[in-house]
Amino acid sequence: MAVKNTNISYGSVAKAFHWGMFLILLGLVIIGYYMADLPGDTPEQLGYKTGVFDIHKSFGILILVLVILRLGWRMINPVPKMPGAVSKIEDLSARGAHMLLYLLMFVQPIFGWLLTSYDGYSVKFFGLDLPALVGKNKPVGEFFEEVHEVTAALLIIVFSLHVAAALFHHYIRKDDVLRRMSYRQEE
Ligand code: HEM
Ligand code: HEM
Repeated sequence: MAVKNTNISYGSVAKAFHWGMFLILLGLVIIGYYMADLPGDTPEQLGYKTGVFDIHKSFGILILVLVILRLGWRMINPVPKMPGAVSKIEDLSARGAHMLLYLLMFVQPIFGWLLTSYDGYSVKFFGLDLPALVGKNKPVGEFFEEVHEVTAALLIIVFSLHVAAALFHHYIRKDDVLRRMSYRQEE
């Protein structure tokens, strides 16, 4: 498998970014919904809750780092062309969905960081203290908690359409769109 993309397929680096980030995002969404309702009344509960929040924040910031590297890698690679049978509208909506997914992967960690800073809590990246983006302001923090929740829902909606499109190409169109992002292509 080539390291770089070609005009018809994704290379190993783009695939590693795609599937690695898929797994991290899946974990983030599951942990995010789980931790939002955790009790923090006793010191033990609070210690556990802080630990889970720190894991969510670390992997969330990792997504921010990875999406910047991924977009950089994308700029120096060709983007595989759609198979011939795809109409202009389909091509545009696929590209639009990809751009939207990149945008959501970029803004979601920033909203998380903002809400944490506004709420007056610290952000650690696997133990490394990151600076607060803004000063404490509880009402604005609550607003950004809502924003972070809405953006997560948007991510899930666009992701679902994206997967439906991939399955449509594979099982109905029977073209190479799913195969070229998969590891079984050359077998
Ligand atoms: C792409 C990356 C991220 C995704 C997909 C994500 C997803 C989520 C989800 C689904 C929730 C639960 C929403 C709710 O019901 O309130 C959540 C909550 C939360 N996230 Fe993230 N998150 C990401 C990055 C971050 C980052 C980088 C931080 C902080 C540095 C962060 C801090 C938080 C906090 C503090 C909560 C709890 C908010 C509350 O108490 O309502 N998140 N996240
Ligand atoms: C089961 C889950 C997934 C499947 C089956 C899947 C499938 C695919 C396929 C087949 C492509 C290639 C499309 C093409 O050739 O034009 C692709 C590209 C892409 N996927 Fe996914 N995907 C999944 C999860 C995700 C997730 C969770 C995200 C991000 C939130 C994502 C973001 C993207 C992006 C941004 C591209 C465009 C890559 C580029 O050209 O730069 N995917 N995906």
